[in-house]
Amino acid sequence: MIKVRDLTFSYTKNKFLEDINFEVDQGEIFGFLGPSGAGKSTLQKILTGLITTYSGSAIVNGIESKKHSNTYYETIGVDFEFPSLFEKLTARQNLKFFGSLYSRKLRASEELLTKVGLQQDGDKKVSEFSKGMKSRLNFIKALLHDPEILFLDEPTSGLDPSNSRDMKNIILEEKKRGKTIILTTHNMNDAAELCDRVAFIVDGKIKALDTPHNLIMSKGATKITYSYDAGREMTGECLLSHTADDKLLQELLRSNQVLSIHSSEPTLNDIFIEVTGRMLV
Ligand SMILES: Nc1ncnc2c1ncn2[C@@H]1O[C@H](COP(=O)(O)OP(=O)(O)OP(=O)(O)O)[C@@H](O)[C@H]1O
Ligand SMILES: [Mg+2]
Repeated sequence: MIKVRDLTFSYTKNKFLEDINFEVDQGEIFGFLGPSGAGKSTLQKILTGLITTYSGSAIVNGIESKKHSNTYYETIGVDFEFPSLFEKLTARQNLKFFGSLYSRKLRASEELLTKVGLQQDGDKKVSEFSKGMKSRLNFIKALLHDPEILFLDEPTSGLDPSNSRDMKNIILEEKKRGKTIILTTHNMNDAAELCDRVAFIVDGKIKALDTPHNLIMSKGATKITYSYDAGREMTGECLLSHTADDKLLQELLRSNQVLSIHSSEPTLNDIFIEVTGRMLV
């Protein structure tokens, strides 16, 4: 669905994106993960045809994105980082207006409003909406024409846990309906839960690209922590792959003295720090 080859882009004389290469298959949720300023939104702007002065190639649904015609926007849905809505119109009027720009059969607005819990607020002006309400409306605006590819730039940012959960469920539903989804986030938990594959982006470059599971398994070593009774409760730890080398643990196991054993895998966040040397925020 998406094929990016040797993509490089500069806003100024510095390179903001450098030698980006990746492919996204149909039905996949692909995540861009990286700290603020890494170039995630810039990359989305290229893929959605808003920036055309790049070198290399960015083919989306068979079309080189800088050469797109307006029909390109019939097949993609974009949830921008910052909501783009008419403040003086109500939520329903916004959906009606944006829907009128497409020649495709639209999805039912009422159903979409209900999905994100905005049905009661549909006749309120967007200027009266909270930040999270605007995000939710902006999100369903991207679904309205039932596009094949969805570009979601930080869709859960600024949402409370319950709305964020609903949003993630809708994203997973869209995947089930065969949609291809490009998701930008700095929330590692969301990425690990939603994405089939993620690309770590730092300073305009892809530093790693794989499934969350493989990233965790390739770099991280699962640790075990155990406790035992030595007059008072003591703890020890070792790598799961090296339990046979831990003499104390072996002795405790032989004499049935172990009180508890817990294993802990590294998180995607730990791996991000290990691979990129950077925190996510
Ligand atoms: N229009 C512009 N002109 C010049 N520089 C820009 C422009 N837009 C973005 N940049 C710069 O490009 C870099 C990447 O920005 P981008 O918005 O892609 O980051 P991001 O990874 O989406 O960050 P965030 O997580 O904060 O949204 C930043 O250094 C930013 O200052
Ligand atoms: Mg951004």
